[in-house]
Amino acid sequence: MCGIIGCAARRDVADLILGGLRQLEYRGYDSAGLAVIRDGSLVVVRREGRIDNLAGQVKASGVDGHTGIGHTRWATHGAPSEKNAHPHSDGSGNLAVIHNGIIENHEVLRERLKAKGHVFHSETDSEVFPHLVQEHQKTHDLLDAVRLAIQEVRGTYAFVVIDRTQPGRIVGARRDSPLVVGLGKGENYLASDVSALLALTRDVVYLANGDVVELTPDRVRVLDENGADKPLQISRVEWDAEAAAKGGYRHYMLKEIDEQPAVVAKTLQRHLDESSGKARFVLPDAAALEPWLANVDRISITACGTSWHAGLVGKFLIEKRAGIPVDVDYASEFRYRDAVLSKNHLVLAISQSGETLDTLAAIREARARGAKVLSIVNVQGSSLVRDSDGVVLTDAGPEIGVASTKAFTTQLVALQVLSWVLARARGRLDREREAKAVEDLRVLRFKLEECLSRGEEVAKAAELFARAQDFLFLGRGVNYPVALEGALKLKEISYIHAEGYPAGEMKHGPIALIDANMPVVVVATPGRVHEKVLSNMQEVKARGGRIVAVAAADDAAVRKIADFVLPVPVVDEDLSPIVNVVPLQRLAYWVADLRGCDIDKPRNLAKSVTVE
Ligand code: G6P
Repeated sequence: MCGIIGCAARRDVADLILGGLRQLEYRGYDSAGLAVIRDGSLVVVRREGRIDNLAGQVKASGVDGHTGIGHTRWATHGAPSEKNAHPHSDGSGNLAVIHNGIIENHEVLRERLKAKGHVFHSETDSEVFPHLVQEHQKTHDLLDAVRLAIQEVRGTYAFVVIDRTQPGRIVGARRDSPLVVGLGKGENYLASDVSALLALTRDVVYLANGDVVELTPDRVRVLDENGADKPLQISRVEWDAEAAAKGGYRHYMLKEIDEQPAVVAKTLQRHLDESSGKARFVLPDAAALEPWLANVDRISITACGTSWHAGLVGKFLIEKRAGIPVDVDYASEFRYRDAVLSKNHLVLAISQSGETLDTLAAIREARARGAKVLSIVNVQGSSLVRDSDGVVLTDAGPEIGVASTKAFTTQLVALQVLSWVLARARGRLDREREAKAVEDLRVLRFKLEECLSRGEEVAKAAELFARAQDFLFLGRGVNYPVALEGALKLKEISYIHAEGYPAGEMKHGPIALIDANMPVVVVATPGRVHEKVLSNMQEVKARGGRIVAVAAADDAAVRKIADFVLPVPVVDEDLSPIVNVVPLQRLAYWVADLRGCDIDKPRNLAKSVTVE
């Protein structure tokens, strides 16, 4: 939510900043802005809307300089207008500040500053910060002024500040909003996440909460919350620039859908130990926690959005295989519901970004109350990784499309592995069964490839139903979360109203909506509830509904009832969500494309939601 980039260099940086902003645009795209210092003056350019608007203006005016910052906004306080776009300035016009997060006490600070003669030009909470810094600069150097100013701020922030009178110097600070330092040769960078830096460097320093950082082209200095210098802990990012590029695809989402066979295999491989002949499941990034897992007697899964849907699949798997009771909460609810946490309680967080504020707040609350936290995360170095007792890393690589696809399927693989590890810890998995489970998971990559090779049916179904105003998605058992995910994908990117429902629950409400105008998408692959699903489909048909079924290609019973079949390869029922979701991701994609929607940047959404 809001993308930030800054650079101190010995060359012009406007292009570099615009390039970084393009990589960060998924964090927000309501407005964008850039500030550079050139020959002792500060030039600020801001535009409503997408980075292209900003880039056009920057190019036309030839604005450039060796020190610069850029911001892409997801509006919280104040409309998405040019006046509310970042960077914001102080009264003197010396400072330019970009901010991600929310200053909760901005009104009190604003009133206090107004009383001192400060004049404000925007409706944002962020604008108070440059004014606060300016006040402290009356008696302190820029770095200390920022340190003092953040002590007055309540809320979440990543701030980046430049001062016209101090070219070549950038000061940043973070609390509960991400900020990472990139180390270059003769230049250094700051960004909200590593994807903005991949074209520049893979050597990074992840800042911790409360850190303040000072950058020049040659030096990076990090101070902890008490002002003490910290040694730089340099990490090498595994991702490369190519992984974050569109690679000839029209949209990131389509590329990311197609990457699923490879990233599913990679995530599995990370969690296999093959040293002793027969492969075994392992959790290499949760080794310290693994012995304790045998004691776990209750699990609370907490997540948001698509990751929450993965959690629902996890509940099925863990309860069935390990026999441990699991509840699944939206992170925003878990935090405020006084959940009962016992001594042997495991809280399992799931997040692609590792920066979703609701999820972070939920696990912090859980840890404060004594629970142990294990997290399934895609982004190394993210806040969730740092704040958990152990992690299960997914290898989806950079996911740029706002609608999550490959992150979901890799989360499902991580949950497969975890459910088997828990089963083994409780003596419910012998070596033979484990070897079979590993084999089944290995084959998935090829099943996904097969599934992706059957694109025509999805494209045809999209054409048939693209003008519908409502969709109903149904699934049962382990595929009920897939129905929820199919509905979420469609509404996120095509703006069609869609509801996901357990198929058996349809008769208690949604059945009233069924008519010939509302397509009903049913996940009807083989499994123990298959016949029940067929009956639910009959109920739809009997009321004149039109059915699109995700089903085995040769399932004659489904073909007899459904108007349209999206064929998928047959896999074990417990693995089927990983395959079954693919045609639903593609259906959403093609429907959105036919409706002319902006697929990678759907309106109002942002990928990494760092506000509550
Ligand atoms: C946003 C995104 C979703 C994502 C959710 C949770 O709503 O648009 O795609 O599923 O956040 O994000 P996380 O990074 O925690 O998985």
